[in-house]
Amino acid sequence: MVTADHLALVFFSFAVGFALFSMLLLLLRKRRWCTCHVCRAYLSSSWAAEFDNLCDWHAHLLRESPTGTIHVHVLGSTITANPTNVEYMLKTRFDNFPKGKGFSALLGDLLGDGIFNVDGDSWRFQRKMASLALGSISVRSYALGIVSSEISRKLLPLLSSVADRRDGVVDLQDVFRRFAFDTICKISFGLDRSCLERSMPMSEFAAAFDAASKLLARRGMATASMLWKLKRLFNVGSERKLRRAIRKINMLAEDIIRQRRRLGFTSGHDLLSRFMCLVDDDDKFLRDIVISFLLAGRDAVASGLTSFFLLLSQNPYTAAAMRDEIAGVIKDGNEDTVNYEQLKEMHYVHAVLYESLRLFPPVQFDSKFCLEDDVLPDGTFVSKNTRVTYHPYAMGRMESIWGPDCREFKPERWLRGGVFTPANLFNYPVFQAGQRVCLGKELALEEMKAVVVSVVSKFDVEVLQGAQPLKFDVGLTATINGGVSARVSRRS
Ligand code: HEM
Repeated sequence: MVTADHLALVFFSFAVGFALFSMLLLLLRKRRWCTCHVCRAYLSSSWAAEFDNLCDWHAHLLRESPTGTIHVHVLGSTITANPTNVEYMLKTRFDNFPKGKGFSALLGDLLGDGIFNVDGDSWRFQRKMASLALGSISVRSYALGIVSSEISRKLLPLLSSVADRRDGVVDLQDVFRRFAFDTICKISFGLDRSCLERSMPMSEFAAAFDAASKLLARRGMATASMLWKLKRLFNVGSERKLRRAIRKINMLAEDIIRQRRRLGFTSGHDLLSRFMCLVDDDDKFLRDIVISFLLAGRDAVASGLTSFFLLLSQNPYTAAAMRDEIAGVIKDGNEDTVNYEQLKEMHYVHAVLYESLRLFPPVQFDSKFCLEDDVLPDGTFVSKNTRVTYHPYAMGRMESIWGPDCREFKPERWLRGGVFTPANLFNYPVFQAGQRVCLGKELALEEMKAVVVSVVSKFDVEVLQGAQPLKFDVGLTATINGGVSARVSRRS
């Protein structure tokens, strides 16, 4: 006999079945299908048999392409390493290549309405405020004072203690992340890390940042966005992990805001105090700002420094030439308190830094979303609502831009008669270019230069990489899988 319970069960099963079927249809509709060789290699990951990293495979395809542009149809993505296209999307037709809804949907859970994730008026307001806080030479000299103090109080003592240990080995990537985190907290928020350690050990924040960066980048690599959206809806799998990581990062950002309020912000010159004077009552907005600057200040600088020392260790002649230049500029032996004028005189050091960022840009590729159908200068058609990616990592490896020796580490390529000569910004978009060029560029270069000057003068740093190829983790900024072990010894 059919009871009411039976009927309810049948109805419930039908409803669940129907819902699952509708979701499947939606998923299939959203998913793009393509069987071209690039999409097949992407979907099956067969590229990994020949290349160590996704960006190396991209670089290979872009070099082979007559226009320097390729399509990954299953991602709805156009990737370009053609400088004329890069100039077109970042400058000429800037308004047609915003971050767009696509970008904010991918990264919104972490970045919210922070500067990296918005367009229009909100972006303009944040950019204006941030340029005031980061742009002027006087602010940058003040920031350099903070960097010098972090170097002499924390970084050099840490490396000395490593050098005194029996094995003398340390993970450079980890050391530079800690250093860059402390420095950005001081410069952008006016806070010392010791005020922040009370709520949670720093290692937990670091792990949360790394997890969020990895999981968000994976979202961007998914061919069907519905999958991660469903996982987020039901809070399962990778999205559950992401939610937990973001909760921890939010706690850190809220702690930073609380501390700033407690210490007072009305007369502060740091970035956070400036924003608080205008929008003190909007904690969510302040939190978004803090997170954007933590991400920029910690991960990109640490990535740049790590690959710098990796390349230096493989090129001892360059290290010797740097030491000669440093000794010629800093005559009193106080390399850890190098000033702005002295840094400006070091053309060779600047060239080495540019060369290492050319080969290992911290942001390997970066995407915009096309608003209206468009045609790039190389003739590539881009349809609206699709992604267009410029690729600094591949661009650093293009013969068409750098010549046949493009894969060699040659700092001299940046010098004319011993004077540093910059490249066209659209050939080298390591800091992006055009209207949204990185606001921390000069600060980051000065910070990195100050670190390399003091470390190279006092220590030999030998990276213990062996013959193994470099493997990058999936992430928003370049992270070397497993870290970078190095032996540190004092120079006599
Ligand atoms: C080696 C270090 C760095 C590199 C390679 C780098 C690179 C970049 C890149 C590629 C972008 C464009 C990102 C996008 O639009 O999606 C960017 C934007 C930005 N960067 Fe940096 N960055 C570095 C350090 C810093 C530092 C230390 C700060 C702050 C203190 C900073 C602040 C910013 C800001 C605020 C933007 C957003 C600009 C806008 O959208 O108008 N960056 N950076």
